Amino acid sequence: MTIKRYELKNLQTNDILTLDAHEGSIGPDVIDISGLYAKEGAFTFDPGFVATASCESKITFIDGEKGVLMYRGYPVGQLAEHSNFLEVAALLLYGELPTRSQLDAFTHSIMHHTMINETLLRFFNGFHYDAHPMAMVSGVVGSMSAFYHDSTDISNPEHREIFAHRIIAKIPTVAAAAYKHSIGQPFIYPRNDLDYCGNLLNMFFAVPCDDYEIDPIAAEALDLLFILHADHEQNCSTSTVRLAGSSGANPYAAIAAGVSALWGPAHGGANEAVLRMLETIGTTADIPRFIKKAKDKDDPFRLMGFGHRVYKNYDPRATIIRKMCHKVLERIGDNDNPLFELALKLEEMALNDDYFVEKKLYPNVDFYSGIIYEALGIPKSMFTVMFAIARTVGWVAHWQEMIADPGGRIGRPRQLYTGPTERDYVAVDQRV
Ligand code: SDX
Repeated sequence: MTIKRYELKNLQTNDILTLDAHEGSIGPDVIDISGLYAKEGAFTFDPGFVATASCESKITFIDGEKGVLMYRGYPVGQLAEHSNFLEVAALLLYGELPTRSQLDAFTHSIMHHTMINETLLRFFNGFHYDAHPMAMVSGVVGSMSAFYHDSTDISNPEHREIFAHRIIAKIPTVAAAAYKHSIGQPFIYPRNDLDYCGNLLNMFFAVPCDDYEIDPIAAEALDLLFILHADHEQNCSTSTVRLAGSSGANPYAAIAAGVSALWGPAHGGANEAVLRMLETIGTTADIPRFIKKAKDKDDPFRLMGFGHRVYKNYDPRATIIRKMCHKVLERIGDNDNPLFELALKLEEMALNDDYFVEKKLYPNVDFYSGIIYEALGIPKSMFTVMFAIARTVGWVAHWQEMIADPGGRIGRPRQLYTGPTERDYVAVDQRV
């Protein structure tokens, strides 16, 4: 990284502090403030980390102004058109597009590690039938650390790779078990002869008493959605995985922390919230009332699936997903799907409203994905679980990058303290 320098002037003392800045291969410079407290006795303040780079990474690049998303330098649109999810997973994990033999070996490894320990399956019986699947998935993934604590020496690159393959292979099985438990159906074991998305569909929708035929369009739609959801730089859940992993915690526990962070409606939970919002809006005639609510500062209602911390242009993933929406709905003969029609109209009206235009609030990855999931027969409560399946690849890639960094340190932010200054203890019978 080349070094630039910035000067910071203390206007009270006229002292000038010179700060090094680093230039990435693309994207904004970063000003290195790591020595600021030692030199100036001051912290920087950036709630929500709007302008703070927490790490150096070579995995994913986003240009929010231009609506650019690249995995290891490959534009996500090209990967969506030409690649498949496991090839993208190998790219994100290893940094290069795999050769044919590397891809075959990676795919074989993943598809032959899809079973979970039978004891782990029994964990699901401990959940009430209507437990939210994200609660089940985060709980069971965290419990995997109890099964693999003996083969997770995170300083050992081989152990780290075994972990990576295991969790990417098994997360669909955990997701399917959560789904089957929630609908009271028997668990369907994974099959090594199917591909990643076909196997997931089979575990979701097959039943012991009947044949199940995998719809290739459904498998194609899932594969595309997984490619688009695989990674996204230092988002909330990925930063959570990095922070949890930075303490040296068991990697399954770090991934479970990521699942929990993803669940929030401001993050991965938005896809479920979008469908519930569309159902609440109900008809196009009611759209103006809800756009008004979204603009009202006194109303907590927000247009779910709109806005993004980084994209101040169209989320490139939303554009691709909207096209896939048409294809899936056409395929299942649901061309005039009322929710899709409503979503298209809502998008059109919002993008013609000054509030959304001025605040650069465009549809994001979550706006259309739920419509596809619902069209595939996946219930709303499972939408964020689908996001977690895909994002597990990104979480693992970032965890590996962090753990392998020789200069890596435990993450420990500071604060601006505005609480009480020192005061003495008062006995309980002296208090008023
Ligand atoms: C994901 O980080 C990632 O990369 C995430 C993700 C990934 O792949 O990992 O891309 C996946 O999480 C996508 C985002 C899904 N969430 C939603 O769709 C929920 C609705 N969106 C908002 O909650 C919001 O836009 C966020 C959380 C996405 C972004 O929040 P920010 O960056 O903190 O922005 P903000 O809340 O400060 O909003 C800026 C302004 C505010 O108005 P002012 O106070 O400046 O007057 O825009 C307004 C907000 O009120 N605003 C919205 C809005 N989103 C922002 N107003 C109405 N509806 C919205 N959806």
